[in-house]
Amino acid sequence: MAVYQVLKLPDETLRARSAPVSKINDGILRVLDNMRDTLHAEQGLGLAAPQIGILKRLIIIDTGEQYIELINPEIISREGEKISTEGCLSVPGIIGRVARSLHVKARGLNRHGEEVEISASDLLAKALQHEIDHLDGILFIDKAIETRRE
Ligand code: CO
Repeated sequence: MAVYQVLKLPDETLRARSAPVSKINDGILRVLDNMRDTLHAEQGLGLAAPQIGILKRLIIIDTGEQYIELINPEIISREGEKISTEGCLSVPGIIGRVARSLHVKARGLNRHGEEVEISASDLLAKALQHEIDHLDGILFIDKAIETRRE
């Protein structure tokens, strides 16, 4: 078990664009495992690799009911809109209201290199959009209609 330090603003790494994973090797699997340990230690909902200083397209989400790991994830369809509150481990003490697609379909690879498609709504849809944004250096505060101190 290894818990990484989660990078916080104004760390510029959070603003960088992450590179696609070309080969799922032991190093990538170890990063995924350590991301899970870190997410649980921080009691977060999701984590993207750039938040721990690794500029690769990896995200994990744990809703409590469902644990998802996605490599090279992308949103392939969207429907509806919902405005709700978000926070981020990299932006401590701030929450904001953000408009997101209510339903999304996401595609990526699992740790076995198999292509997976996830249909998500509400919380999971929001988490997928939030985490995938991190891979392009986008934070929820960039999209928030309003933010406030928690
Ligand atoms: Co975040």
